[in-house]
Amino acid sequence: MIFKLATLALSVAAFPQSEPQVGQWVPAGPNDVRSPCPIFNTMANHGFLPRDGGVMTRQQIVTAFKEQMSIDETLTNQLLDATYLLGLGNAHDQTLTLASLNTHNAIEHDASLFRNDAFFGDNHTRNLTLLNQLISYSSDGQTISIDDLARYRKDRFADSKARDPNFTFGPKQEFLAFGEAALLAETISPANPKQIPIAVLKAFAGDERLPVAEGWVKRTDTVNDLNVGAFAAELKIKAGVFNS
Ligand code: HEM
Repeated sequence: MIFKLATLALSVAAFPQSEPQVGQWVPAGPNDVRSPCPIFNTMANHGFLPRDGGVMTRQQIVTAFKEQMSIDETLTNQLLDATYLLGLGNAHDQTLTLASLNTHNAIEHDASLFRNDAFFGDNHTRNLTLLNQLISYSSDGQTISIDDLARYRKDRFADSKARDPNFTFGPKQEFLAFGEAALLAETISPANPKQIPIAVLKAFAGDERLPVAEGWVKRTDTVNDLNVGAFAAELKIKAGVFNS
């Protein structure tokens, strides 16, 4: 008996039940929570933020975004200030959970690029049918240009408006929607944000994975309020006026 226990102890020590290493991509398991934001989900899937989607600190978020995807610290801090002001997370402790980001009409809104409206139930899991719709807007079959993105952004608005009886889309939602599209382009297509490679988009938005295998490298400068603001403004001009 003692011999058997000793053998068991030795084998457990030799093959410890190891957690995946930080950086390793592991999609969310059944007990893990995810958000409507692809960068938070990607960071959690790689273990740069808690894999279960639970409590994370401001510093953890700022560091993960900066080190993994070159998001300027000031920009992330500004976005987090707004997040706490909107009542999400715990402003006192300066912490956040992924579930808190699902709150409808705080940041999360209708007519997302590749997520269902809250009216239809799950407002945070990516919808691959919508992602494929966006991809089908590609004019060259290889990339999503800023013009393709603008057409899709406008059509997604019209699509949600037609189908969702609770459709809500005022100036706040519009501002957020253009900002998110700009963040996406500036982050995952550093060489040319106006031409997002489809393979890179599929990895980041579909798998919620850093698109390294697809040739993506993080930009050497940063994603900041200037480049994101300029892209969002151009996209808005191309998409035209939304009639909500
Ligand atoms: C502290 C910073 C951030 C917070 C709190 C945040 C939160 C959110 C939330 C709540 C949504 C859902 C909006 C919707 O309903 O569509 C969202 C969407 C999105 N976020 Fe973030 N986000 C942050 C930073 C970023 C950054 C740095 C990126 C850069 C890649 C990003 C990319 C996106 C994209 C592309 C979407 C749209 C997803 C879709 O339409 O399906 N976010 N974010």
